[in-house]
Amino acid sequence: MARVLLGVTGGIAAYKACELCRLLVRARHDVVPLLTPGAERFVTAQTFRALARRPAAEDVYLHLTRADLLVVAPLTANTLAKFAHGIADNVLTEAALAHRGPMLVAPAMNPRMWSHPATRTNVEALRARGVELVGPDEGETAEGELGVGRMAEPGEIFERAQELLGGKSVLKGKSVLVSAGGTREPIDAVRFVGNRSSGRMGVALAAEAARRGARVTLLGANLAVAHPAGVEVVETPSAADLEREALARGADADVVVMAAAVADYRPAGALTGKRPKDRATWTVELEPTTDVLALLGATRTEGTVLVGFAADRGETGLERARAKLRDKGADLFVFNDVARTDIGFDAADNEITLLGADGERTIAKAPKEEIAAAVLDEVEGLLGR
Ligand code: CTP
Repeated sequence: MARVLLGVTGGIAAYKACELCRLLVRARHDVVPLLTPGAERFVTAQTFRALARRPAAEDVYLHLTRADLLVVAPLTANTLAKFAHGIADNVLTEAALAHRGPMLVAPAMNPRMWSHPATRTNVEALRARGVELVGPDEGETAEGELGVGRMAEPGEIFERAQELLGGKSVLKGKSVLVSAGGTREPIDAVRFVGNRSSGRMGVALAAEAARRGARVTLLGANLAVAHPAGVEVVETPSAADLEREALARGADADVVVMAAAVADYRPAGALTGKRPKDRATWTVELEPTTDVLALLGATRTEGTVLVGFAADRGETGLERARAKLRDKGADLFVFNDVARTDIGFDAADNEITLLGADGERTIAKAPKEEIAAAVLDEVEGLLGR
């Protein structure tokens, strides 16, 4: 988790900073909003405190000493000029002067102010000091003028912020293999034995690993959710496909996360054509599949971090997950309780217990994106050893 100072200055685009704040919080960053007096004419400090989940009576000055990133969005011409000249007359300009890490700014102003030589000089001064700019974009301003001056979209600012923060992740440049979804085992040409996994958790893990700068391959088993950006997706609809692709890639990966619900059994001797309906009973015999995770655990190369998932029920399920961690030779197991309907399979949220050699830790119910970040924080700790 990184600490991000989020500066907001007095422009009409200040309301868009709410969305940026939400995205940063959702990515599990510790966000400290710093509003200038000008910003408070457009948005309230209370809104940002609520979005950043910060207590009302908090003294933000305490947090200015250590921050991984300072983001300012929107950045007005006025505050941009103050930054360029080192003026420190409010909490944000003071923070900017005291901050030693990366700084990302999203200017927003009237196009004529943006193109004015004074602003050009100030922008160059900031760039020369390593300040990163995102936008401004071309478009119609709030006053109805066309030109360059509109603040970049919150999503774009967020992505850039994540990239800058990713520079610190030990996952940067590492190769990560993630399996996601649920396999389908053919009975005949059109029928299959499947399960309810949507692939959301594995996709969130792949997306988060990519955000942290890893080279990610996702083995997708019938994903019900969109493919994440910046990730190579290999379709592995059945347990046999997944086994083949995982074994071909597993040995070279730094991290393998087996989030897919791989079938434990497949119909023996699946029919190639479609079996026509008749009045007779149809008995399908199931044969065991290969346990891919256990095989990877048994043949692992040193230094690889191997993560397994256990979808099981209650305290006995947790006990079984402990046994799986040991028996499958994994470094980390992620347990979620499928007895609950508000988390896990096909739900947006999850609540997990992380099981490792060093002990266990429960991550409170949160969107799967936040859970993914918590799992990868743990993986980073294991990689760093
Ligand atoms: N797994 C695997 N290959 C299989 C089955 C499971 O790699 N053929 C992996 C899953 O991706 C997951 C973990 O093993 O990481 C789940 O363990 P397992 O206990 O085998 O799966 P469940 O079916 O959830 O448990 P149970 O033993 O209760 O059936």
